[in-house]
Amino acid sequence: MAVLNGKHVLLGITGGIAAYKCAELVRGLRRAGAEVRVVMTAAAERFVTSTTLQALSGHPVRSSLWDEAAEAAMSHIELARWADLILVAPASADALARFAGGHANDLLSTLCLATEAPVHLAPAMNRVMWANAATQANVAALRGRGFRIHGPDSGEQACGETGQGRMLEPEQLIDALADNVGSWHGRHLLITAGPTYEDLDPVRFIGNRSSGKMGFAIAEAAVAKGSKVTLVAGPVMLTTPSGVHRIDVRSAAQMHDAVMAGLAGIDTFIATAAVADYRPKTVSTAKIKKFDADVVLVLERTPDILAAVSGNPMRPRHVVGFAAETENLDEYAQEKMRNKGLDAIAANVVGLSGSGFESNHNALTVFTRSGRYAIPLTTKRQAADALLDILLEKLP
Ligand code: C5P
Repeated sequence: MAVLNGKHVLLGITGGIAAYKCAELVRGLRRAGAEVRVVMTAAAERFVTSTTLQALSGHPVRSSLWDEAAEAAMSHIELARWADLILVAPASADALARFAGGHANDLLSTLCLATEAPVHLAPAMNRVMWANAATQANVAALRGRGFRIHGPDSGEQACGETGQGRMLEPEQLIDALADNVGSWHGRHLLITAGPTYEDLDPVRFIGNRSSGKMGFAIAEAAVAKGSKVTLVAGPVMLTTPSGVHRIDVRSAAQMHDAVMAGLAGIDTFIATAAVADYRPKTVSTAKIKKFDADVVLVLERTPDILAAVSGNPMRPRHVVGFAAETENLDEYAQEKMRNKGLDAIAANVVGLSGSGFESNHNALTVFTRSGRYAIPLTTKRQAADALLDILLEKLP
């Protein structure tokens, strides 16, 4: 349950008899180390008192959008931003309909609309209400928009009937949250991949041998794990993995601009691109003619995209680099991690046959600030999975 430690959980309680279980839910979340703030709808207040939940959560309970004192202390937008996740439990049939309809005329529905955090719903209602086509259509719409639905369970209901509609037990809900927090589900990654081409004239450029396969494999693996992925790709001959939002660029400057424009809402940035370190200082608009004499090219530095992301005020929570080295792998990789202010770096030896550039296989050594983890030679797709697992487990 360590994954919930320090997490900000906003618990929304709507009107249903299962609301009585929320006291246990708050206690369980706090035992798991989460900080909990409670928002109740007007109907919820008919089932449980805010006094109980205030005492258990350690924070005043909010219920109105029009509470001036509460808004002054933390506005509803700040509260929506504060939350690492929202759990609505119980989520009544009416609450599901309101969320599905995008309503914003009470505090809880407004928060669900205003948050960028994942919203988890624990439906609870009479079995016929649950089975009703209207409720099922609302649930399907919510699922499609990324809301996570937990339960309901079947069994004995407070109304005396037996069937599907019971809210999951607090312990089950906490386990479900922990599984989701400790996963790539619902996270947004920005990944760079491939080489960059730096033009000399309309027909010539300086490039490198990067195929982009490692970055594309990470993008595919992350989508398979439930993440949203934006992939900024240099010139590569690869098809876009399904579900990935791809932005094509050519030069380091274009890659830099695309990355900076895409930083909002990103929680993990992974730079696999082999960005050209230098570009011609001047680009000829006409094809450069050949002469008998030697030619001297003047090159200038390109922007370091990874360092720029790491130093940006909108720095994602995790910034991860790649290091391709021919020698002194550990030393150079760790130096790069320090110099660029990274949370982790994945290093591979280039120049070996059967791995690295252009190959479908790779062996990586991943460094975090406190550890070193080897991913033995495998397919790039499997290496991508292993890398994401390491980042998930080892980064705070
Ligand atoms: O400094 P070096 O190029 O060896 O660092 C490699 C790492 O930095 C890779 O993650 C690469 O994608 C990133 N990088 C970058 N922008 C550059 C140069 C490298 O994002 N201009």
